[in-house]
Amino acid sequence: MKFKTIVEPFRIKVVEPTRQTTDAERAAAIRAAHYNVFQLDAEDVLIDLLTDSGTGAMSVYQWAGMMRGDESYAGGRSFHAFVRSVQEITAFRHVIPTHQGRAAEHILSGALLKPGSIVPNNTHFDTTRANVEHRGAVALNLPVAEAREPQTVHPFKGNMDVAALERVLAENAGNVPLVMTTVTNNAQGGQPVSMENIRRTSALCRAHGVPFFIDACRFAENAWFIKTREPGYADRTPLAIAQEMFSLADGCTMSAKKDGMANIGGFLAMNDDALAVTCRNSLILAEGFPTYGGLAGYDLEAIAVGLGEALDPDYLRYRIRSVEYLAEKMVAAGIPVVRPAGGHALFLDARGWLPHIPQSQYPGVALCIALYVEGGIRGCEIGSVMFGQQPDGSERPADMELVRLAFPRRVYAQSHMDYVAEVLLHVNTIAKDIRGVRIVEQPRVLRHFTAKFEPVPR
Ligand code: F0G
Repeated sequence: MKFKTIVEPFRIKVVEPTRQTTDAERAAAIRAAHYNVFQLDAEDVLIDLLTDSGTGAMSVYQWAGMMRGDESYAGGRSFHAFVRSVQEITAFRHVIPTHQGRAAEHILSGALLKPGSIVPNNTHFDTTRANVEHRGAVALNLPVAEAREPQTVHPFKGNMDVAALERVLAENAGNVPLVMTTVTNNAQGGQPVSMENIRRTSALCRAHGVPFFIDACRFAENAWFIKTREPGYADRTPLAIAQEMFSLADGCTMSAKKDGMANIGGFLAMNDDALAVTCRNSLILAEGFPTYGGLAGYDLEAIAVGLGEALDPDYLRYRIRSVEYLAEKMVAAGIPVVRPAGGHALFLDARGWLPHIPQSQYPGVALCIALYVEGGIRGCEIGSVMFGQQPDGSERPADMELVRLAFPRRVYAQSHMDYVAEVLLHVNTIAKDIRGVRIVEQPRVLRHFTAKFEPVPR
């Protein structure tokens, strides 16, 4: 590229005003939220990086598509547009719409898992893990060793540890009903998985007769990383790369709230006819008729268009470069971040940044509170609060204490990035004064959403 400035590959047609708050207002708001950023009112947040899920801006083509939405209960036109779009990319025989990704996980887990089953994944995200454990099965994370080292630079830190997978498959023959690979690997820093790794995982699963599914939420971002980092893919389109990824799997679960560029939606897709029958039956029970899942016809249209837009090279270049731009500023300032930058988010290494806060006092939550109080930025802890609670109620610290700043798609521009960088540099100057937290109240599962915290006295 001749020039370096990140030019957003879109013009703005509709704006959503944001609101500035004072330091005192934010201090009061976080106290009222029991120091859990999930409990804040979004109106009180200036830059909301809680998630990239369902928070993107839709294009004029998606909105136009929504007007075409066919709301027929059965066999609607929008369902067929949706299936064509999904099949162009994945080629899976059966496409089952769901209201979001976790519904697809719920249905797939119900169809395949038994108590005691083992489900390996490069790293399960929270809902995937919760759905596996809900069936009494074991959610086994098998990331490569580099994934656990925030500072180690590796092009495909999202990879599965294939040697470990081979051992698990050999030692548990008959008890592994499903293997998954999550692209990109969200919980380990939004890191990509290489085509070679997907190919090797696929070959192992086929040799052992175990279905291999891709958790495809960020498949387009993963395709871009393969294009720019993996030898032999530079001249391929993101679409062709995505098609190759899916050709190696037996099915996928998808949250269209990410690389579907939609505000709601998801799907489950697969080749196995018998499995599809089972899944459609439970879909009808919980989500809706198989030609709309839990969605409106207009949602299906938005996804049909959005999947294609997510694979646009200009969009992907802008998206991946924005996160990398912010990461470069952090590295230059000596602020520890997961390296290299992830696809959808910058992951701050809270443990490395706040070494005075022990893991038992949740440095990630402490950092989230500081980012909000200082600059009105909302991030999300991906650490021991999210992953530390075990099914038996015991506590086990997570591998890493991260704070994820996840970027909604096509929502923020470069000046927002510059502001975020400025706040982070300011927080760096007060880092040693940031206090840990303790949990005052928590539910039994997925506690990060509703747990109440309080700062630990100095
Ligand atoms: N798998 C991955 C890798 C995810 O990141 C998510 C959602 C899901 C599955 C579930 O999809 O939300 O549509 O039910 N992740 C969001 C996030 C919530 O903030 O990372 P869903």
